[in-house]
Amino acid sequence: MGRDIAALIAALILAAVPATGHAQSGVGDPMAGRQVAQTWCSNCHSVEVSAQTLTTDVVPSFAAIARNPTMPPSVLRAFLQHPHGQMPDLYLSRPEIDDLIAYIRSLPR
Ligand code: HEC
Repeated sequence: MGRDIAALIAALILAAVPATGHAQSGVGDPMAGRQVAQTWCSNCHSVEVSAQTLTTDVVPSFAAIARNPTMPPSVLRAFLQHPHGQMPDLYLSRPEIDDLIAYIRSLPR
């Protein structure tokens, strides 16, 4: 009996490992994120550090998002999991979201 419980605990621990074992999870590629941003976000957002032309009061630039202390990666991720700004067709995959966050984080603050 005690042995079964020990085995069960061991199994549970092993089952929990893959959740953290994937080393790359949550770590995106900023260059890939830049591509995604230019494709999907640049219609509304200013996605480059230097591009000021598309910035409006309504739509924050990516540089502004990078500087925004209320938009840490966890909040960004939750935000990007849902369409926004009247763009119902935009559904980003997890890797795309990781890449976008990595890109936004790579912008100078
Ligand atoms: C159709 C226009 C449009 C597109 C395309 C668009 N956005 Fe937005 N976005 C907005 C508008 C408008 C707001 C501000 C209002 C809101 O939060 O819905 C916004 C807000 C945001 C915010 C929140 C900023 C803050 O400080 O609250 C983030 C983050 C963001 N967008 C990221 C993205 C990313 C990443 C993409 C590309 C995958 C994208 N957006 C594409 C229009 C757009």
